[in-house]
Amino acid sequence: MSKVRSQILSIAANSGDVVVTNDDLAKVIDTNDEWIVKRTGIRERRYIEDGTYWSDMVMPAVEKALDDAKTKPEEIGLIVTGTLTGDLEMPSAAGLIQARLGVMGAGAFNLQAACSGFLYSVTVADRFIRCEPDLKVLVVGGDAVSRIMDKMDRSTAVLFGDGGGAAVMGANTSGDGRGILSSRIYSSGEHGAMLYLSADNGADIKYGYRKPGEEMPPRTVQMRGNEVFKIAVHSMERASIEVLEEAGIDKDDIDVIVPHQANIRIIQTLASRLGVDMERVYVNVDRFGNTSAGTIPLALTEAVEQGMVKEGSTVLMPVFGGGLTWGVTLMKW
Ligand code: COA
Repeated sequence: MSKVRSQILSIAANSGDVVVTNDDLAKVIDTNDEWIVKRTGIRERRYIEDGTYWSDMVMPAVEKALDDAKTKPEEIGLIVTGTLTGDLEMPSAAGLIQARLGVMGAGAFNLQAACSGFLYSVTVADRFIRCEPDLKVLVVGGDAVSRIMDKMDRSTAVLFGDGGGAAVMGANTSGDGRGILSSRIYSSGEHGAMLYLSADNGADIKYGYRKPGEEMPPRTVQMRGNEVFKIAVHSMERASIEVLEEAGIDKDDIDVIVPHQANIRIIQTLASRLGVDMERVYVNVDRFGNTSAGTIPLALTEAVEQGMVKEGSTVLMPVFGGGLTWGVTLMKW
C-alpha cells in the first residue's frame, strides 16, 4: 500500500494594488533608494487601498486556488489561515473566508505565527491530511502589514508590504512520491522582544519589551533589525538541515529554494551557508518587500508560473518571523 502524503494541489497569490517605491518613501521619511536597495534588496512594495481589507486582497487568490485544484468550496473540510491582520478579531480571518465562499460546516481557524503563518498552516494541514486522507484543506497565509506598521518609522517602514496567497491541499495516495516530504515548525517566545506587535494594553511593559513611559504608536510592529537578522539566518539554516536529514535528502538534491522574502542579504547568506547557488533560489523581495505570511505563497506561485518549480522538483521553503517563529517545509512538487 502506498504511503499517504499530503500535497499542495494548487497555489495562488495576490498583493496590494498600490505600488510604493523607495523614492515614494524617501519623500516622507529620512531614507533613500540607495540605502534600501543595498541593505535589503527591496525596490518597491505594495499596499492595499484605503477602505479595503485583508480579505479583499486574499479572496482572488483563494478563488483561483480552488479553480486550479478543480475543487468546489463545499469540498473543503478545513480552512487554516495564518495572518496577523484579519479584518476582524472575531470571526477569525478563516471564518470570514468561509463566509465569503458561502460554505457551511468546514472547520475554520486562524493561527498566529507572524511571517511563518503560511508554512505553519501548511504543516497543520499536512498532519490533518495524513490522519484523514479524504480531507481537503484550504490554507491561506498573508498580511496587510501596512495596517500594523508605523509608516514614519524608517526601521520598519522600508521593509514591509501587503500580500498573501492560498493553497488547496489534499492527499496523494498514488505513490509517485510528490507532496510534503518533511515539515517542521519552531518557536522561541523568549526572544519575542526582538520583533513584536503589542496589543496596546500595557502587556509589552509587563514582559519588559518596552520601558514604562516609553511612547510608541499603538499596535505597530517593533523590531531590533540587527538581532533579528542574525537569529533568522542561523535558525533557518539549522532547521533546513534538520528537515533535509529527516527526509534523507542531500543539499545537492534541492532543485529550488523558495525562502521567506525579508531581505536579500538574509536570503544570500542562508543560501551560501547551505551551499546552494543563488540561481536555484527564487527571489521577489525586490518587488514586494516582506509581506510577512504572504512571502511564501507569493514566491511559490511565481516560481511555479515561471517554470522554475516544476513537476517533481524538490523544493525547500524556509521561513522566519516575529514571535519568534520559524519553520521549514520540504516537498516534491
Ligand atoms: N534608511 C536610511 N538609513 C537607515 C535606515 C533607513 N531606512 N535605517 C537605518 N539607517 C541607518 C542607521 O541609522 C545606521 O546609521 P549609522 O551607521 O549612522 O548609525 C545605518 O543605517 C546602519 O543601520 P543598521 O540598523 O546597522 O543597518 P543594517 O545593515 O542592520 O540594516 C535592516 C537594517 C533592518 C535592513 C537589517 O538589520 C535587517 O534586514 N534585519 C532583519 C529584519 C527582518 O528581516 N525582519 C523581518 C524578519 S521576518
